[in-house]
Amino acid sequence: MNTAERAGGGSLLVLTMALFLQACGGAAIAAGNLHPLVLIPGDGGNQLEARITKDYKPSSLVCKWWTRQPAAEGGGGWYRLWFDPLIILSPFTRCFAERIALRYHPELDDYRNAPGVETRVPGFGSTEALRYLDPSLRHLTDYMGTLVKSLEEEIGYEEGKSLFGAPYDFRYGLAAEGRPCKVGEGYLRDLKELIENATVANTGRPAVLVAHSLGTLFMLQLLARNSPEWRRQYIKHLVAVAPPWGGAVVQMLTFASGSTLGIPIVDPLLVRAEQRTSESNMWLLPAPRVFKNQPLVVTPERNYSAMDMAEFLQDIGYGEGVLPYQTRILPLVGELPAMEVPVTCVLGTGVKTPETLVYGEGGFDAQPEVVYGDGDGTVNLASLVALEAEWSGKTSQPVKLLTVPGASHSDVLKDRAAVGEIIREIAAINSLSLNGSAKRSNI
Ligand SMILES: *[C@@H]1O[C@H](CO)[C@@H](O)[C@H](O)[C@H]1NC(C)=O
Ligand SMILES: *[C@@H]1O[C@H](CO)[C@@H](O)[C@H](O)[C@H]1NC(C)=O
Ligand SMILES: *[C@@H]1O[C@H](CO)[C@@H](O)[C@H](O)[C@H]1NC(C)=O
Repeated sequence: MNTAERAGGGSLLVLTMALFLQACGGAAIAAGNLHPLVLIPGDGGNQLEARITKDYKPSSLVCKWWTRQPAAEGGGGWYRLWFDPLIILSPFTRCFAERIALRYHPELDDYRNAPGVETRVPGFGSTEALRYLDPSLRHLTDYMGTLVKSLEEEIGYEEGKSLFGAPYDFRYGLAAEGRPCKVGEGYLRDLKELIENATVANTGRPAVLVAHSLGTLFMLQLLARNSPEWRRQYIKHLVAVAPPWGGAVVQMLTFASGSTLGIPIVDPLLVRAEQRTSESNMWLLPAPRVFKNQPLVVTPERNYSAMDMAEFLQDIGYGEGVLPYQTRILPLVGELPAMEVPVTCVLGTGVKTPETLVYGEGGFDAQPEVVYGDGDGTVNLASLVALEAEWSGKTSQPVKLLTVPGASHSDVLKDRAAVGEIIREIAAINSLSLNGSAKRSNI
């Protein structure tokens, strides 16, 4: 830990948003016999579309008016909910927040959209919806665009043939097995089919999964919920980029005080209520098995560690989150058995990352003083390396760590050195060397 400073804010949601396009050069090689590759984005890492129905109850005249505009553009009223640059203007921020919010229904023990809002994920199977969050603002909203370009130009991956994308509704997470989880489980089913199809289309070669951030948690569950036989047949390797294996302290800031979406003019309290409803945000709260009893939130009255999360949710005024946290999330973030799939973690380090939140007399509505520690700016180092720490010594479960000093949580998908690491690793998994001497791939 080092300096204490005012919180700049930031959430996994928008930190995944790209700011600069960085071209990544390198000698293109012609390669057949590639293992099919599926890209799985993180929180906020793909486009999401919405349609407003007659059940929608706008909270303001602006939100009422704003519903008419997208319908007029045709397409059956579907419009891009995420990402839309207009939402940084506060009247629209409010409309966005009420539309993107989820609702937990105790009688269903599951999450659903806000009333009057239908959503859909465009382009499942392709990388289209995860390369740029807004195709008209490519340079500003590059998410996996740089990585896709490198995979195509440097290794020879081809969209729709050997290269696939698995966007999803990132507001929804997964729940402990046995609990209802309509959207998240639907995603795992679709993804399983996509992987099987990709393998069949590539003469039976098992797939390489490349996931970022929240996507890595979904992938671990995908592996855990399928049989060893299935994993052997269909999965070659998991490349986990910036994996929040044990969550991140910054999520406690999001729940307690809202997060500014990385954009200074957005009032964090405007989006706090919506951020609290996200099932995946709850999944990303610091996990007891990684953060143990370290004080993460310090207040004049008491301290909270990852083990006190239920009390924390209660005390910040989100009592309705306690039950879903205890019954759906806690059992999900316990220890995971090794799964006999080789894993490579690519992570940034040495970027100051919120590690302790110190609240004063102003309570949780005020932004805290933040004490920083090591990590990728969003995810704490202890969480990034947690899988290796847990699985080390289990020789049947190889876990490799590739660290990129100075690469932040989102830059790790764009930074030249980081993308270079990812590309070299994928080439090695395919038994290719990038200087042109392609070898036969071993199945
Ligand atoms: C998998 O392939 C089948 C048969 O071609 C097709 O009907 C299905 O839509 C594909 N599923 C996915 C997720 O690509
Ligand atoms: C809370 O944590 C801080 C920092 O670790 C420590 O100095 C303080 O004594 C703790 N307070 C309580 C009430 O445990
Ligand atoms: C190409 O890569 C291989 C393996 O990494 C290395 O042994 C060889 O020297 C390289 N050749 C050139 C021309 O750089």
